[in-house]
Amino acid sequence: MDIEEKFLKEFVKVTQQASIATLPKIGKKNKNEVDKLATDAMRKVLNNIEMKGRVVIGEGEIDEAPMLYIGEILGNNDFPEIDIAVDPLEGTNFAANNLPGALSVIAASYKNNLLNAPETYMNKIAYGSDIEKGVIDLDYDFSKNIKNLADFKNKKLEDITICILDRSRHKDIIEEAEKLKLKTKLISDGDVSGALLVTDKKYEVDLFLGIGGGPEGVLAACALDAYNCGFQGRFIFDDDIATKRAKDMGIVDLEKKYELKDIVRGDSIFCATGITNGELVKGIEISGDYFMTDTFVTHKSRNIKKKIQEKVQKIT
Ligand code: FBP
Repeated sequence: MDIEEKFLKEFVKVTQQASIATLPKIGKKNKNEVDKLATDAMRKVLNNIEMKGRVVIGEGEIDEAPMLYIGEILGNNDFPEIDIAVDPLEGTNFAANNLPGALSVIAASYKNNLLNAPETYMNKIAYGSDIEKGVIDLDYDFSKNIKNLADFKNKKLEDITICILDRSRHKDIIEEAEKLKLKTKLISDGDVSGALLVTDKKYEVDLFLGIGGGPEGVLAACALDAYNCGFQGRFIFDDDIATKRAKDMGIVDLEKKYELKDIVRGDSIFCATGITNGELVKGIEISGDYFMTDTFVTHKSRNIKKKIQEKVQKIT
């Protein structure tokens, strides 16, 4: 079943308002405070939507006194039943320090069509829609993926660009990329945007990979699915708590490699509004009583993949 058209507008409003709400705390060095502003605004707008929304990917578990926790019910109706993945503030560090790249992100599908997963790390790989299945695989070693990609694209290794979070856990990959003379785009945070750079040639990223947040992986997967791009992910349950949570949520195979079809099924909507300027979307610009917003959206069934620039007022 396709998600009704009106929901795209509703969800765009959610990330627009969450982004606008952060402005008083941008650059104020407090990650929790700026995150709370985004989360509170997101909840408020979600609660005004005619739906029974359930957070399946959120800010944490209920017992961690979280905000927009997994299992939280939102909306003001009993139907339609919608599964929601949220990251009210993606790039808390960017927002707290007024650095480029902070976003507010949401994804939605009808009930049971979005992966329900605990908040943990995920090993991910994403590539463009022009790459045939089997060329890239999370289970191949890095150099095999790169050589396959270069062969498939008929490109020299030095013309291949990878994007990866700048973390010590990626040392081996980063060193190998240097040996292979690849171009490496290291990002300090924000791997939802990082993964989405494979959606369009203009970003000049051939492959996104590495370990980052699981929620961010699921969110990016929704947009990548609408773009027909490739994505695979594997959660990392490396302690007893994460393992227990995964089992409680019904995850049987803790080593499972998730393909796009295992993460998002059927129709989905994805919205990411810029808070500070970034590669994907512009940040919020204040213009009198209004706010200029820039939102990256996808709605799979309607083949919508675009940016919406809109002047909006802050909802009080
Ligand atoms: P937050 O906005 O929650 O701080 O996440 C930023 C981020 O860079 C994500 O984009 C990424 O998936 C994750 O952190 C990586 O985690 P870590 O900083 O622990 O390596």
